[in-house]
Amino acid sequence: MNSTVQIIKNHRSIRNYLEKDIPEDVLQTVLEAAHAMPTSINGQQVSLVVVRDKDTRLNLARLCGGQPWVAKAAVFVLFVADFYKTSLAADLNKVKQVIHESAEGELVGFLDCGIAMGGMIIAAESLGLGIVPIGGIRKEAQSVIDLLGLPKYTFPVNGLCIGYPADLSQQKPRLPLATFIHYEKYQRSNLVEDIKAYDKQMVSYLEQINRSEEVNWSKNTSSVYQSVYFTNVITTLKDQGFTHKK
Ligand SMILES: Cc1cc2nc3c(=O)[nH]c(=O)nc-3n(C[C@H](O)[C@H](O)[C@H](O)COP(=O)(O)O)c2cc1C
Repeated sequence: MNSTVQIIKNHRSIRNYLEKDIPEDVLQTVLEAAHAMPTSINGQQVSLVVVRDKDTRLNLARLCGGQPWVAKAAVFVLFVADFYKTSLAADLNKVKQVIHESAEGELVGFLDCGIAMGGMIIAAESLGLGIVPIGGIRKEAQSVIDLLGLPKYTFPVNGLCIGYPADLSQQKPRLPLATFIHYEKYQRSNLVEDIKAYDKQMVSYLEQINRSEEVNWSKNTSSVYQSVYFTNVITTLKDQGFTHKK
């Protein structure tokens, strides 16, 4: 295994950070790693908003539903699906952009944000930084748009806290590999057994990290997924021009 793969396989989210700034050149390296990631049709429909300002991060921590690590991490990076830039390209060429009104456009924008975030995570962790992705940024998406001045045809897809780790959390076990990798065709025969086995493993893991009051994977996931937890997303998407009509 080479050192890059080792870093990827050693991932764990970090929510405790040292009061230590990230040097400008280190941050720049991490941002440029995200910039180098591939995008659909080379449309580059991703933008980052890098927030170091403490007051803004305190505000974002609140908007994310009270996530203190957003204010504690040295830097917060917002990943924006950005069809505003591409609309400028359309204007330049005197054509009308419609892709942002389609499900395909939404998928492309969100996927490209995820790919950029993946690249940034690996770069950051390789430089001794700790990260945690922040989907909570979509809870009050309109307020985030207003706070950070996002234009039409953009959407705040996800955030990323970056800082020097105060402690290394335990690595969280994953579902068995067989539930994730399907060779040749999707294999559903052992899924339930594998989920049950993972539920047991998660109970031991939670005991080990003194969080035995939390529930196993299937209970947790099904409890979260029995409702739509960020109910404003659909309205804000539409208000931003992602009408989802095509
Ligand atoms: C898209 C995405 C959104 C996430 N949103 C949050 C969040 O809002 N707050 C948080 O504390 N963790 C968040 N996480 C972190 C996950 O909870 C974490 O990755 C998962 O529990 C696995 O743990 P690990 O990263 O330590 O392996 C998010 C992760 C991803 C990939």
